[in-house]
Amino acid sequence: MAQKFEVSEWANFSDEEPEMSWNCRWGILVLVFIIGGCEADHQNVGAQQPVAKTAPSRPPIPVARPAPPRSAWLRLQADGIHDVDNPALRLLQQPEEALSKLPRAAEGNNVDWVAALRSGVIIPRTNVFPETKIKVLDRDVIMEKTAGMPMVRFPHRPHTEWLDCKNCHDRIFKAKRGANAVTMRAILQGEFCGQCHGAVSFPLTQCSRCHSVPRPSRVRPGTEPTK
Ligand code: HEC
Ligand code: HEC
Ligand code: HEC
Repeated sequence: MAQKFEVSEWANFSDEEPEMSWNCRWGILVLVFIIGGCEADHQNVGAQQPVAKTAPSRPPIPVARPAPPRSAWLRLQADGIHDVDNPALRLLQQPEEALSKLPRAAEGNNVDWVAALRSGVIIPRTNVFPETKIKVLDRDVIMEKTAGMPMVRFPHRPHTEWLDCKNCHDRIFKAKRGANAVTMRAILQGEFCGQCHGAVSFPLTQCSRCHSVPRPSRVRPGTEPTK
């Protein structure tokens, strides 16, 4: 116990001469204020009229598109999944190192994977077996039973760029428009869209990525716009 402060210079410093060192610091601080004050006075000498104290005007910083807010990626050591006692953990790449280079999304793992694929930043392998046929279907299905919410656009293209038809038909969805009794409640319980969204694809909190089609506003009879 007595040896506790033996090697630490910091401990010696704060243990032995605290008064003096604090006085020094205050002295320097006061000096800085005085000098700062003089500078400020000098600048005002030439002023003709009292000038409102505003921040000096700077050229505006161009903001192309505000970056979506993003939560920081947890380090592997802090994610509650990896074994912190495993010495091999440091060999793994940290999520931030890999994911921060990809197009951003506001939630989930903070990556817009569709944009990443489209922009060619990532080129995932499409098939394991050479005989597998890649079928990309460019067809949107508008799903209208959304109560007061905007309608849902289900886009086949961004799905079939990653997934084979068999992932969904007919295991999750019958391949017929309106033939599936999809509800938000079921989705939130991990069925239908919820088999993937919130698990491996963007989370269900991003309502407007699915509910993206505004309903045509109802027009009262007699108030239709004339041509
Ligand atoms: C991620 C899931 C998913 C994948 C993968 C998928 N589909 Fe679909 N498909 C849907 C959903 C959802 C609907 C709409 C069902 C509804 O309205 O109830 C649909 C509807 C359809 C329809 C009916 C469209 C209409 O307008 O009536 C056809 C045909 C279809 N899919 C074919 C395919 C084919 C072919 C593939 C592969 C190239 C494929 N789908 C891949 C989810 C998927
Ligand atoms: C992954 C896509 C997806 C996301 C994300 C999503 N929804 Fe839905 N939602 C659907 C689909 C699909 C339907 C059913 C449409 C149909 O069958 O015509 C639906 C239906 C609904 C309905 C209609 C009533 C019901 O219970 O089915 C409401 C309300 C709704 N969603 C609200 C929300 C809200 C609020 C959020 C965000 C917290 C959200 N949704 C996020 C896909 C989504
Ligand atoms: C079998 C898995 C699976 C199912 C089921 C599924 N999705 Fe997806 N979805 C994906 C994947 C994978 C992506 C691309 C990665 C991402 O955006 O997270 C995606 C992307 C999307 C996108 C983004 C398109 C873009 O251009 O950014 C929308 C919208 C979407 N899904 C809606 C739905 C709706 C609505 C349903 C249910 C009717 C549904 N998905 C069911 C896997 C699925």
